Amino acid sequence: MSEALSQLKYKIDLNRLPEHVAIIMDGNGRWAKARGLERSAGHVEGVNTVRKITEAASELGIGYLTLYAFSTENWNRPKAEVDALMELIVIAIERETPDLIKNNVRLTMIGDFERMPSTAVERLRRCMEETSRGTGLVLNLALSYSARWELTEAARKIASSVAGGKLAVEDICADTVAGALTTASMPDPDLLIRTGGDHRVSNFLLWQIAYSEIYVTDTYWPDFDKDAFAEAIIHYQSRERRFGLTSEQITSLTE
Ligand code: FPP
Repeated sequence: MSEALSQLKYKIDLNRLPEHVAIIMDGNGRWAKARGLERSAGHVEGVNTVRKITEAASELGIGYLTLYAFSTENWNRPKAEVDALMELIVIAIERETPDLIKNNVRLTMIGDFERMPSTAVERLRRCMEETSRGTGLVLNLALSYSARWELTEAARKIASSVAGGKLAVEDICADTVAGALTTASMPDPDLLIRTGGDHRVSNFLLWQIAYSEIYVTDTYWPDFDKDAFAEAIIHYQSRERRFGLTSEQITSLTE
């Protein structure tokens, strides 16, 4: 177990936690470069951050943590980096599985597994199966994932239901689309965190983040720690979520 959350956790209102936090983990390469190291050293250190933030989310009682570990676009990186990253992710998950079970964490994954090496998929499926009885935090890894891939797949599923006579075109609504996404069993993210300073959503959960609060920090992912995560939640709790309504309407709804 790494260092616990500091005093900052007392500034968090546990009754108003985000139920689902999604994170774009960026800055591993720049973290390594700043130290004169290979990019892979940044990814290795990034795995330690994954462990710390999973612990913090579990410790606080957050329901879902979705981490953008590998995007569809990442397949276009140099082959050596892609292979090393895949292997690193699989080894890290296998190594952490006993601790995930101990901490009641359930591991799930979203993404285009057909593009992944089948041995990696098999090894990851085993970890998901072993943690499937967890009733605490859901750790959801987005692997070989992009929102445009997901939305295209959803369009195919819906079209095939229509073509098969199981669904009428006029019955298609927002819930139909949400139900055809990889995140159908999860609430939408309340908070989207991006490390590494770029103000982009990078093809991540485009449908699901419609009303997410967005928090960008310049901190590179390997330097993002439990306190930085707590700061993001404290910041989230200072925002007024209006979902398209006026401030006055929100106040009267909560009175
Ligand atoms: C972005 O940094 C990060 C990634 C492409 C990979 C993130 C993956 C991990 C931290 C490992 C995940 C491990 C588990 C167990 C889920 P970048 O390389 O784009 O950094 P840069 O923007 O500074 O170049």
